Amino acid sequence: MTQQNGKSTDRMWGGRFSEATDAFVERFTASIDFDKRLYRQDIQGSIAHASMLEKVGVLSLDETNQIKDGLIEIQSEIEAGTFKWSVALEDIHMNIEAALTQRIGSVGKKLHTGRSRNDQVATDIKLYVRDEIDQILQLIRKLQQALVDLAERENSTIMPGFTHLQTAQPISFGHHMMAWFEMLDRDYGRFSDCRKRMNVSPLGAAALAGTTFPIDRDYTAQLLDFDRPTNNSLDSVGDRDFAIEFSASGSLLMIHLSRFSEELVLWTSAQFDFIELPDRFCTGSSIMPQKKNPDVPELVRGKSGRVFGHLSSLLMLMKSQPLAYNKDNQEDKEPLFDIIDTLKDCLFAYGEMMPAVICKKESMVAATMKGYATATDLADYLVKKGLPFRDAHEVVGKAVGVGIQKGLDLSELTLAQLQEFSELIQEDVFSVLTLAGSLNARDHHGGTAPNQVLKAVAAAREKLSRS
Ligand code: ARG
Repeated sequence: MTQQNGKSTDRMWGGRFSEATDAFVERFTASIDFDKRLYRQDIQGSIAHASMLEKVGVLSLDETNQIKDGLIEIQSEIEAGTFKWSVALEDIHMNIEAALTQRIGSVGKKLHTGRSRNDQVATDIKLYVRDEIDQILQLIRKLQQALVDLAERENSTIMPGFTHLQTAQPISFGHHMMAWFEMLDRDYGRFSDCRKRMNVSPLGAAALAGTTFPIDRDYTAQLLDFDRPTNNSLDSVGDRDFAIEFSASGSLLMIHLSRFSEELVLWTSAQFDFIELPDRFCTGSSIMPQKKNPDVPELVRGKSGRVFGHLSSLLMLMKSQPLAYNKDNQEDKEPLFDIIDTLKDCLFAYGEMMPAVICKKESMVAATMKGYATATDLADYLVKKGLPFRDAHEVVGKAVGVGIQKGLDLSELTLAQLQEFSELIQEDVFSVLTLAGSLNARDHHGGTAPNQVLKAVAAAREKLSRS
């Protein structure tokens, strides 16, 4: 704390102020409670900045080494939990810088030469989000791997496929798992694209216009594993597109996980009874002893809402902001951090849970037998015997109507009964009306025939082995 003209000006920027910050304003403007998470990236960025200042002759080697050693010690203190955070020091940048100066003396005050908290914070968040994307990509791949294993194991397991949640056609359970694989693969692509686009270094933009020091932005970009420096200083400090793009990618991922969840919740119900989730991923009821609730998928479905809400917050945050940096931007962190935590937890839960899913095959076959799932197969059979498709559709519709009256599946009607609808129907119809026959007949790229599922599995394995 310094005293000037009897007024307290303990802030790093306090030179032009004649009274201390209001206690409320101090709390209201501080971000340290949440941006302390950026400590590693902040120190990483500062070490790169100091190395660059040394390279261009602004700092001596000795000063640079003192700064680097001090920062490394501060990082150990933070990681040991002994670092004292100060709300009066507002944010992660000033907390660390003040601790450095306290530790190494006035050399610490030279670190902020040629930079601003505006390019510093943009750099820190980019580094942070980039590191998190790498972890999210791995978690997506782990879940995809689990789905591929499940698809291979259950390639010939029959379940009803639905449209409008009404029984449509028999499908392979493995095929359904590979649909989820594809959805996640688009998520993987989106996060990878986002990472590529955001991987440019804002460091050196300083407050908004660049700096008068002879900085080497290519060098700091290279030290921090960025592809290159950003091209425009105003855009560098004002840009939060990457945060929105990341959140939008996260939202689509959560849409997918939420849809998976809805299916798992339905499938574990007594009414569907298609699968069993491992006990360790379910919970019981305090009143109903028979209950085994699919809490994990339910919560994943529920948590999708907070991610969509955060995306919306970030869009609102950025709309109408004039260039360049505005303090509004400090509000980007809490939504981003919560999205990251949510995505990682949900992906982790699914990656652990899916390998332990048990298919209740008989129950799924029984469900498939209920909804005339092979009606299209009978229509296709008639078309192959020369009937135009629309006529075949009509004939089969009538047969289904009689089946409903009699409480019988098409395959349970006798040949004579079936021939009443069309003389084209012969003994060979019964192989067409089996569930396995129906699956096997859809034997083309992207179809549900088990051997196509196995082909999709092989292609997926090949893809997974490449990343
Ligand atoms: N805590 C601030 C943020 O998160 C750091 C940048 C502050 N810059 C400033 N000029 N007040 O955005």
